[in-house]
Amino acid sequence: MTRARVVRMTEDHLDDKALREAGEILKRGGLVAFPTETVYGLGGNALDPEASKKIYAAKGRPSDNPLIVHIAEIGALDRIVKNVPEKAKKLADAWWPGPLTMIFDKTDEVPLETTGGLDTVAVRFPSNKIAMHMIRYAGGYVAAPSANTSGRPSPTLAEHVEEDLGGVIDMIIDGGQVDIGLESTIIDFTVDPPAILRPGYINREMAQEVIGEVTVDPGILPANSNIRPKAPGMKYRHYAPKADLTIIEGEPEQVEAAIRKLADEQTKAGKKVGIICTDESAEAYKTGDIHDIGNRTEEETIARHLYEILRDFDDENVDVIYSESFYTPKIGQAIMNRLMKAAGHKVRAAEDILSGQNQ
Ligand code: TXA
Ligand code: MG
Repeated sequence: MTRARVVRMTEDHLDDKALREAGEILKRGGLVAFPTETVYGLGGNALDPEASKKIYAAKGRPSDNPLIVHIAEIGALDRIVKNVPEKAKKLADAWWPGPLTMIFDKTDEVPLETTGGLDTVAVRFPSNKIAMHMIRYAGGYVAAPSANTSGRPSPTLAEHVEEDLGGVIDMIIDGGQVDIGLESTIIDFTVDPPAILRPGYINREMAQEVIGEVTVDPGILPANSNIRPKAPGMKYRHYAPKADLTIIEGEPEQVEAAIRKLADEQTKAGKKVGIICTDESAEAYKTGDIHDIGNRTEEETIARHLYEILRDFDDENVDVIYSESFYTPKIGQAIMNRLMKAAGHKVRAAEDILSGQNQ
């Protein structure tokens, strides 16, 4: 296959002709990567089992890991979903279009190839205008996982998509850097109270403000690595950088001192060290490949750059990475969920490192 055609546009200057072409490609069963407000998606016609199979093949994704169906108007739910509970309608009113995915019982219109064999379907109405127009031109139902090769960090720039999938898909719509940078919050409405299956920009409190009690799937809490998460995709060790990543926790000054100590030791031992820090701490480090992820007072910046930084470390071939932790007030849970997975849950206390204790 020839390399994917890349077309550029912004939400303010849509290229209508290219969007129509993308819609045609999707209707014919082809694959188009496109920007959303969360991460780039790899789109295929959600009602076409062959298109879904192609998506799995392109990503190298296990076929039991279901896809999210993207829609561009609320009315589109009727065809693919058996019943929409009142609470889900309320949450849709508050957060759609937006970074929210909801799970419902599916109708027969949705092929099992799209849902990984499940009788339920995940649905999202993205707010990115490029995505919205493309979905309409494609007939209204676009299945789209994140547009990365399975196991790599989700793409937040079109270049990431090009790198992973440029050789195996038809078209890439480059809409620049995404806004949020972490995948959507997934809430399961086939149970009551509804349950968060994947944390995202919309946190538990934000959902509870609208619909009352919301639980969190015990399988996604770090302490419960023995419980199987309900969202099949959450069981995989995603986002793993090639280097060994460790998260350092503690008071800011202690974390800085501990990372400095580890970076010095590893550098002396001939290792190439990467460090993930923030604007607030960047000056504290001297040795290593120092990557400033964002500003702690603007937590969105941290979320937006996480995956990009993990990819950069892969390109720079570092051997070990030390990261500060980012338990920021709103998106912190989602950020740390992804960072913990990238680290294979390796966390050390700054205190222990400074007092010379081994892990
Ligand atoms: O922000 C997002 O959601 C992005 C953009 C492209 O929209 N998409 C995305 O898709 O993150 P993906 O395929 O990378 O992640 C989908 C997650 C997986 O963990 C999958 O297991 C879960 O959603 N999922 C999908 N359908 C499900 C279902 N019926 N029941 C439980 N989990 C489901
Ligand atoms: Mg993904």
